[in-house]
Amino acid sequence: MKTIIEHIADSVSRAFEECGYDTKYAKITLSNRPDLCEYQCSGAMAAAKAYGKAPFVIADEIVGKLKGDEIFEKLESVKPGFININVSSQFLAQYLEEMSVSEKFGYVPKVSGKTVIVDYGGANAAKPLHVGHLRSAVIGESVKRIQKYAGNNAIGDVHLGDWGLQMGLIIEELRDREPELVYFDENYTGEYPQEPPFTISELEEIYPAASAKSKEDEHFLARAHESTLKLQRGDRACRAIWEHIMNLSKADLKKNYDNLNVNFEIWKGESDAEPYISDMVQSMLDSGLAYESQGAVVVDIQEDTDTKELPPCIIRKSDGAALYATSDLATLVEREKLYHPDAYIYLADKRQELHFTQVFRVAKKAGIVKPETDMTFVGFGTMNGKDGKPFKTRSGGVMRLENLISDIQDAVYAKITENRTMDEAEARDTARIVGLAALKYGDLSNQASKDYVFDVERFASFEGNTGPYILYTIVRIKSILAKYIQEGGSVSGLKLIPAAGVSEKNLSLSLVRFFDVMEAAYMEKAPHKICQYIYDVSNAFNGFYHDTKILSEQNREQKESYIALISLTKEILLDCIDLLGIECPERM
Ligand code: ARG
Repeated sequence: MKTIIEHIADSVSRAFEECGYDTKYAKITLSNRPDLCEYQCSGAMAAAKAYGKAPFVIADEIVGKLKGDEIFEKLESVKPGFININVSSQFLAQYLEEMSVSEKFGYVPKVSGKTVIVDYGGANAAKPLHVGHLRSAVIGESVKRIQKYAGNNAIGDVHLGDWGLQMGLIIEELRDREPELVYFDENYTGEYPQEPPFTISELEEIYPAASAKSKEDEHFLARAHESTLKLQRGDRACRAIWEHIMNLSKADLKKNYDNLNVNFEIWKGESDAEPYISDMVQSMLDSGLAYESQGAVVVDIQEDTDTKELPPCIIRKSDGAALYATSDLATLVEREKLYHPDAYIYLADKRQELHFTQVFRVAKKAGIVKPETDMTFVGFGTMNGKDGKPFKTRSGGVMRLENLISDIQDAVYAKITENRTMDEAEARDTARIVGLAALKYGDLSNQASKDYVFDVERFASFEGNTGPYILYTIVRIKSILAKYIQEGGSVSGLKLIPAAGVSEKNLSLSLVRFFDVMEAAYMEKAPHKICQYIYDVSNAFNGFYHDTKILSEQNREQKESYIALISLTKEILLDCIDLLGIECPERM
């Protein structure tokens, strides 16, 4: 389906052409003065220069040509040469009707059908999930859903940090605590036990203890490094402990991500890159791309157009160990082999920007990734507390994601049960859904790269630009539709008649923006654009709701049209929240 702006541009282009001007001037935008008009064209200003005429003369000519075109309700040339445009309600009604019977409301992305790897989540195995991982999971899930909606084959990979020093630390801590375990018997040649030597809660306590010890005990840290290297080189005992850690950790992480309604197509990690590393490094050395520098192996990435100096990418340390960049590069080798993607999207803290610049450049220079493959890094800002500093618990520690989620769900539960009766089970379930919406919307409604303040009170509020407000709006529509059906009505196949009132037209105008919003959110990987949109739609709906007696409307044709309009509103809002990874309860 064409967008409304394209429809208007078609008519306006024809007018420019008929008046003898280049059609490139017929550019239409949403009005930046909604108090004056709905859409506008400033093309006459630019055309004036090219044709040596006064802008308003051209604007007048164009407006004259467009008289009688049924898609317009009002056309005005205003000095110095703008064209102000309102579309007709008749045209809007037809357009909305077409949207309501079209798949995805008629949205057709310009580019589609690509295979895209979305690398998000990025939890580190054996370390508890903390709020720092929240943003990656929440934004990544939404970016991935938007990719799918646009018709891409999006593959989400959790890309666990499962190959780093934390493994060596755990192994050595375990050795200190239980030296009698078979893993530490050098002469042991039998099978290692199936049962892990620890539980998940023990594991969660072992890692922080080991990490703290390594900061005080240099010798212990050296042992952990050595164990990590042994693991990476395939040592049987280290590998066996690693398997135990991974089994427990993955199950726990799956549970946590499930609770967040975040789902990955593949559960790979840094360890999966290991088999590709040595060939990859060797081939970069052979081609001369990589060279030795102070014992390490590095690749230069500086380009002439860079405005600042970028350090070379280190792909092997002097002790032979692989680094973060090595594992990301080798992961690309594997992804190319297994999935042949057309594009990559990575989500991580924006402080990792240099790392991704290095990885992307080396990947292209080394021919690991084709020159035309799109590689995007979506770097996000920090979640801060009300004091403006990175979010901490009351006691100053790192907040666990589980606790953060239950805090916000409790806040919502209190609100739901405040002045309503709902049985306990439903209230809890509703608080779970609405609490997650509060949390996710609070995050997603900000441009990803910006820092934001985590504020339970504000996020859980049923008013303002919040997740609960959006859900409340949808629930309100659901309940009107349910009543209508109860009274014997049916919501399918209803005709829309042109909007009579201002708030009804406003709602219509907000709905037809769907295409442009989707395309922008998709191309720019920007879920916040969807949030802004559904907030506008919700406000427009609530304005309409307050001005209109929907169910008590006596004129049947009018009432059916209202029902068709709000039912389309509901469908659009539901698709949008799904793209944000948010669900909607039946009641609130
Ligand atoms: N595990 C990393 C961290 O906690 C994030 C991984 C991001 N993805 C990647 N392919 N490097 O910082």
